[in-house]
Amino acid sequence: MSAFAPRVFSGVQPTGNLHLGNYLGAIRKFVALQESQDCIYCVVDLHSITAQLVHEDLKGQIRSITAAFLAAGIDPKRHIVFNQSRVSGHAELAWIFNCVARIGWMNRMTQFKEKAGKDRENASLGLLAYPSLMAADILLYRATHVPVGDDQKQHLELTRDIAIKFNNDFSGRIAAAGLGTEIAMGDETVNGYFPITEPMIEGPATRVMSLKDGSKKMSKSDPSDLSRINLTDDADQIARKIRKAKTDPDALPSETAGLAGRAEADNLVGIYAALAETRKADVLTEFGGRQFSEFKPALAELAVEKLAPINAEMRRLIDDPGHIDAVLKDGGERAGAIAERTMRDVKEIVGFLQ
Ligand code: TYM
Repeated sequence: MSAFAPRVFSGVQPTGNLHLGNYLGAIRKFVALQESQDCIYCVVDLHSITAQLVHEDLKGQIRSITAAFLAAGIDPKRHIVFNQSRVSGHAELAWIFNCVARIGWMNRMTQFKEKAGKDRENASLGLLAYPSLMAADILLYRATHVPVGDDQKQHLELTRDIAIKFNNDFSGRIAAAGLGTEIAMGDETVNGYFPITEPMIEGPATRVMSLKDGSKKMSKSDPSDLSRINLTDDADQIARKIRKAKTDPDALPSETAGLAGRAEADNLVGIYAALAETRKADVLTEFGGRQFSEFKPALAELAVEKLAPINAEMRRLIDDPGHIDAVLKDGGERAGAIAERTMRDVKEIVGFLQ
């Protein structure tokens, strides 16, 4: 059989405020990809209960992420936007993948170690199995490409390992059921049911760092709001946070090599490059030799110019929850139809009676 049809899948958790890292590392790429690809974008609510079970307003959070997707420019008619818990196939396939994946694979995940902290015995079982659910999200739609920030790289490697092991363990059944598709792996071609997904992690903002500490990732869970620019921040807040961002006393270098060992400078130049859709080298051609007192206002102006329209549209959408709910319901139905076909095949391959 021929190769897999290209399909993009990605997800965002409905926990905390979306920030500039989520936007530049993921959501903006989602928007760009929809011009040329068939895309499925998911608000991963099942994932959001792994670290914290009870949320004050999970429904509001789900709507807010959906609003950000739409405000950024994702077209839910041409593509699919939905929340994960609507499609039961995610949890079903994750269970099968829990039996494919090994405990050792999960124990090696750096995000699990970070999130579980010292009290590992007390972390939820869901937090440990999280990457198996993530693999199910992607492979339920047999997605071939996954745009994400750098922090998801290890999870996507694990998704590939799960697909490879499933394809190998069930190779005879897959062939017997006529459900195999050709997969190019290096010089070899193998037959499998699940594609070996390609991560898409590129550009100047795959890892946007905290504005207060260039060694830490910009994160929803950082207790300091000054560490991140939220998509809901207004122009004054954005300008203030950039003004207060940590920097060093030197002028900007003229070449990217000069950013080595200057994490905060590197981060701000990367953010500028990503917002301006250019490269760090081009930013330094323009600003090399200038002080942060000149660069920061230019960065603030650019950030406000790019983020203000999204912010305004998000607010408008959040005021119309009926519209958001209708988008998610329609997306859930269309995602569900694809998922149902996959689950029928998977149950046949595993050998369940149906
Ligand atoms: P989440 O919700 O933490 O983040 C959503 C997306 O934003 C990216 N991101 C960043 N990119 C650059 N710099 C940063 N500081 C930064 N912080 C976050 C993340 O890499 C991500 O792309 N496990 C995922 C959600 C998920 C998923 C999936 C993703 C569940 N199933 C299937 C892809 C495919 C997560 O927690 O992302």
